[in-house]
Amino acid sequence: MLDLTTHSRHDEARQGETYAPFANDPNQYNKKFYIESYGCQMNFADSEVVAAILQEDGFGATRNFEEADLILINTCSIREKAEQTVRKRLTELRKVKQDNPGALIGVLGCMAERLKAKFLEEEKLVDLVVGPDAYRTLPGLVTEAESGQKAVNVLLSREETYADIAPVRLDSNGITAFVSIMRGCNNMCSFCVVPFTRGRERSRDAHSIIRECRDLFSNGYKEVTLLGQNVDSYYWVDGSVPGGETVNFANLLERVALIDPSLRVRFSTSHPKDITDEVLYTMVKYENICRYIHLPVQSGSTRVLQLMNRTYTREWYLAKVDRIRAIMPDCGISSDIIAGFCSETEKEHGETLDLMEYSCYDMSYMFFYSERPGTLAARRYTDDVPEEVKKRRLEEIVKLQNRLSLESNQRDLGKIFKVLIEGDSKRSADDWRGRNTQNKVIVFPKGNAALNKGDYVMVKVTDCTGATLLGEIVPA
Ligand code: SAH
Ligand code: SF4
Ligand code: F3S
Repeated sequence: MLDLTTHSRHDEARQGETYAPFANDPNQYNKKFYIESYGCQMNFADSEVVAAILQEDGFGATRNFEEADLILINTCSIREKAEQTVRKRLTELRKVKQDNPGALIGVLGCMAERLKAKFLEEEKLVDLVVGPDAYRTLPGLVTEAESGQKAVNVLLSREETYADIAPVRLDSNGITAFVSIMRGCNNMCSFCVVPFTRGRERSRDAHSIIRECRDLFSNGYKEVTLLGQNVDSYYWVDGSVPGGETVNFANLLERVALIDPSLRVRFSTSHPKDITDEVLYTMVKYENICRYIHLPVQSGSTRVLQLMNRTYTREWYLAKVDRIRAIMPDCGISSDIIAGFCSETEKEHGETLDLMEYSCYDMSYMFFYSERPGTLAARRYTDDVPEEVKKRRLEEIVKLQNRLSLESNQRDLGKIFKVLIEGDSKRSADDWRGRNTQNKVIVFPKGNAALNKGDYVMVKVTDCTGATLLGEIVPA
């Protein structure tokens, strides 16, 4: 069995994680909701918007689904396995109805969007089905469901960005936060269900993004990650005045960086076709924009990339990696890779391994191809690489990445990094855990220094594993 959990930010990564109530006392509310999120960071960010909408409607959050009046599960459809996990979890959550028949169960997110009302036929004990653009209607839908009707809203929108809603930070470390800057996706990568579940791409009002980041900073947060499926195509036009200002992604990055030099700025995800020199030079200009780019390649073969509709070739991608390294030699780069896409040959798989080696990825999220109903690939191509071949190729990719990650960490031995402390290390309260600008996790003894989470500290790397750097505090 392959264990990819430590390397995935997607469905496997934070599965089943539950949310704690925010600072508010849940007892001040007469009703309680429980929310569980799956999938990408955008889904987690959406759950914080949902929490804000529900709190406004008189619901307090609870960590314990057994005491909830409303149980929500924010779902992911990216791979079949992600959907299976959700279904399994639903069977467990539904048992609550035996003791508390009045409790409502709602399915949110990408699976709700993909399956729509079919969900209610398939899963009879589900009361609400709400798509990613319909969360503002949740209070009304809950009332409908309370009166015994099944409530569904899966309308996608061309405008909705929830710009004016201040997310309720759930299960937060109080130091790092995600901020959605856009929704949807206009790229039709042939394997991908996201354009169907999230709808058309739209960029959020730049002023509301800056405001949210500023509020986070004044509440003690030290790092924001700007989120979108394709952040480099962020483009906001102020439609409120004729000839209103326009803001592209580089402009937005700069504005967020200017909030305060001690507020770190990260972003995800960059599509290789859209990341510009202007973005790279903006990164160079501000020390607080982190030197880290997640640049998913998907495949190292030009023919496969073409079938995937990624709109770049192997050479074009490699030139982009060269460009990043030329402008920022110390920039961390990571990737997403799919093994065994339709008709991929052994030689083409070899090209992926070769490209990984050239790109020296610090880290990758690796998957085998999972056909999604309705996508271009499902309609046009045959999912013809046998499962055992897909798995073997994935295993080779994971093995190579493990070596590349270890080598990357070994190159850091002896180096000194500025680290943002995020909290205690998972293993021991005697150690801090933080990250450097390249997004690498560093664990180091607290020693006698009077430090707190949210502080920056200089750390010298003394040892490493493939996943973590180990170090010691050195004078600034
Ligand atoms: N917008 C991001 C990716 C979002 S989905 C981008 O373009 O990079 C996250 C990752 O899941 C993708 O990069 C891809 O590697 C993987 N993925 C998407 N659809 C998949 C599928 N059908 N099978 C396997 N992996 C898939
Ligand atoms: Fe999916 Fe491609 Fe859009 Fe990423 S860019 S969300 S892979 S369609
Ligand atoms: Fe999954 Fe939807 Fe995100 S399909 S990866 S939760 S956009």
